[in-house]
Amino acid sequence: MSAPLLKVTGLTKAFGGLVAVDKLGFEVAPGEVIGLVGPNGSGKTTAMNLISGALRADRGSIRLGDAELVGLRPDRIVRHGVARTFQLVRVLGSLSCADNVAAGLAFHPGGAFGAGARERIDALLARVGLGGREALPAGELTYIDQKRLELARALALAPRLLLLDEWLAGLNPTELREGIALIRSLRDEGLTMILVEHVMEAVHALCNRCVVMNAGVLLADGPTAEVLRNPEVVRAYLGEDVETDDLPPPHLPTGEAPTQLNLDAGGQHA
Ligand SMILES: Nc1ncnc2c1ncn2[C@@H]1O[C@H](COP(=O)(O)OP(=O)(O)OP(=O)(O)O)[C@@H](O)[C@H]1O
Ligand SMILES: [Mg+2]
Repeated sequence: MSAPLLKVTGLTKAFGGLVAVDKLGFEVAPGEVIGLVGPNGSGKTTAMNLISGALRADRGSIRLGDAELVGLRPDRIVRHGVARTFQLVRVLGSLSCADNVAAGLAFHPGGAFGAGARERIDALLARVGLGGREALPAGELTYIDQKRLELARALALAPRLLLLDEWLAGLNPTELREGIALIRSLRDEGLTMILVEHVMEAVHALCNRCVVMNAGVLLADGPTAEVLRNPEVVRAYLGEDVETDDLPPPHLPTGEAPTQLNLDAGGQHA
């Protein structure tokens, strides 16, 4: 692997007695798109919150290129080139779609304001499928369209690393195909991404490599097909009492509906 863009080492975060992320370590190469997967409550969103600075690590290191991110404020981390979307969408509901993206653009190093920004905003909205909705208040968008808007806002930051937390969840089959194509086009442009995702169809389509978490710890890290048929990984999803004879095939079914390897392993939704 070339020098990593992101290098996470010994990353740890506890909430009271619960260690949500426990000595997590992994790397992401420039241009790589990795899947961060694991059962509900395994610590994926917490890991994203640590990388983006929404939460402060108790211990460990997060290096982006030459910069150490642990201890930096989220706005500083943005300026280092980390952008994200949220598992539970956060748009500025009373502002127009264009102004939501403008808010992202304003944080972009070098900034972009006024008429010069207009063209960029329109292009970003068109790219995520929101062309023509520039003036619409974000709060009037459907939930799925709010997710699109969040992505446009994140892309406005021209990130070096994009963190997508279940961005493809809840899409219908047509939207899922479009969503996968959009993320693939970003990958083809060389954008480095971490996809937290339960939609296995998307993970198989977009990620050559997966990092699997379970109960806060790293369970597996390797090529997607290999990792997802690892008996320990399957057991983590399906529960301890599963016999290895019962293991599903490496490529889980990809029917009309999005495949969600999202069996309740006793965790909670963030
Ligand atoms: N702010 C918080 N305060 C207390 N506990 C938290 C907090 N955030 C997360 N947790 C707990 O930390 C653990 C990991 O949660 P996290 O949201 O990171 O899991 P996840 O892998 O993203 O799950 P899901 O797939 O359901 O989104 C869970 O037990 C959760 O309840
Ligand atoms: Mg989560």
